[in-house]
Amino acid sequence: MERFAVKGIFVDTPAPSTLRVRDGYMLCEDGRCGAFTESVPAGVPVYDHSGQIITPGLVDLHLHAPQYSYCGTAMDLELLDWLQQYTYPEEAHYADADYARAGYGYFVRDLQHSATTRACIFGTLHTDATLELMHQLQTAGLSAFVGKLGMDRNSPDFYREPSPAAGLAETRRWLDTCAKEQMLHDGPVRPMITPRFTPSASDEYMKGLGELAAEYKVPAQSHLSENPSEIAWVAELCPGTKYYGESYSRYGLFGGDVPTVMAHCIYSGEEECAAMKANRVMIAHCPTSNENVIAGIAPAAKYLRGGWRIGLGSDVAGGHTLDLFAVMAAAVQVSKLRWRYVDQSEAPLTMTEALYLATVGGGAFWQDFGEQVGLFEPGYAFDALVLNDSALHNLRSFTPAERLERYAYLGKGALSAKFAQGKKLF
Ligand code: GUN
Ligand code: FE
Repeated sequence: MERFAVKGIFVDTPAPSTLRVRDGYMLCEDGRCGAFTESVPAGVPVYDHSGQIITPGLVDLHLHAPQYSYCGTAMDLELLDWLQQYTYPEEAHYADADYARAGYGYFVRDLQHSATTRACIFGTLHTDATLELMHQLQTAGLSAFVGKLGMDRNSPDFYREPSPAAGLAETRRWLDTCAKEQMLHDGPVRPMITPRFTPSASDEYMKGLGELAAEYKVPAQSHLSENPSEIAWVAELCPGTKYYGESYSRYGLFGGDVPTVMAHCIYSGEEECAAMKANRVMIAHCPTSNENVIAGIAPAAKYLRGGWRIGLGSDVAGGHTLDLFAVMAAAVQVSKLRWRYVDQSEAPLTMTEALYLATVGGGAFWQDFGEQVGLFEPGYAFDALVLNDSALHNLRSFTPAERLERYAYLGKGALSAKFAQGKKLF
């Protein structure tokens, strides 16, 4: 049994509004948290980060690996035009194996050095490139669900699958390859059924993807109620549905037996919200993306306090940064704009709630697969970040809560060390 201890100031969120601060040693045994102690048994090696803040690893519930190559650009269009003009032409390049290897190389290198320990990631519609991404993530020591996209309509010929049958055959080939490589249900990197969004997948394709999710017992992810034009388009494409989410739920891709992450959920009405709660759909709140692609402001405080399952997503490259600490700060900031401009029924989010969303909130998705994620508690995965905030030192001294807040807002800190499932990545 591999056993070590880490010393520092451990900060986590046992409840959304509870910031727990403990100075001492956390034992790690076989990749999981053990006891929190004031001293270490003789012979146990110690990583000594005395005086430094240590948080759980952060969970990115929604991002697009192939879009990382244009991250921080293309900020001038709304969603549907943005997809056509910037996203589809870039993602189409991943048909080329060399391009995919190099592109995903940059992405995985930077994700490995970021605050993210776990993620739900969109690839492209290409099976081989998606497998390349999965292999690189595994080598990097990260935990992830990864999706080969389903897209058989409403994108240019150069970036669309020729028919539902062809798309489903490729999806099956992908899942069979994952099974052969022991990635279907085991291991840190696993597949996730991923219709890009309803406008991209015909009814026949969506139906087949729902059947594959059930047959192979894999989770699902997509986009939901992100943009007003998108929502109107889905209503046109899917006559007979009462709300956007029904375009997924009628094919078994909306939680329930198939654990599902839905990104955005900005404009979800009462019925959609009720269905999300009943089906335990995991909401990925992506505030930086929602700003950049001019999508709007999701009611994240309502979701968190009202009993929905919700975590944070960077949604790179709608989002301009992989840094989930920046996304936490943005979640707090946009919740204030929502309170001012949209709805005063929920007070803005606090930084403690933002940390909860980025750890326990998103981590809850892994609970559906038997892993406890997001806290420093016995049995939880040992995913941890040691924050180096020496560049933020100032005249006055700060409490651990203030140091966390400054680390998130100022963006000038760095990570001293990162552990994922008990492995030290650096
Ligand atoms: N909806 C469908 N595809 C995408 C995408 O790539 N990014 C975002 N933000 N929304 C989408
Ligand atoms: Fe997205």
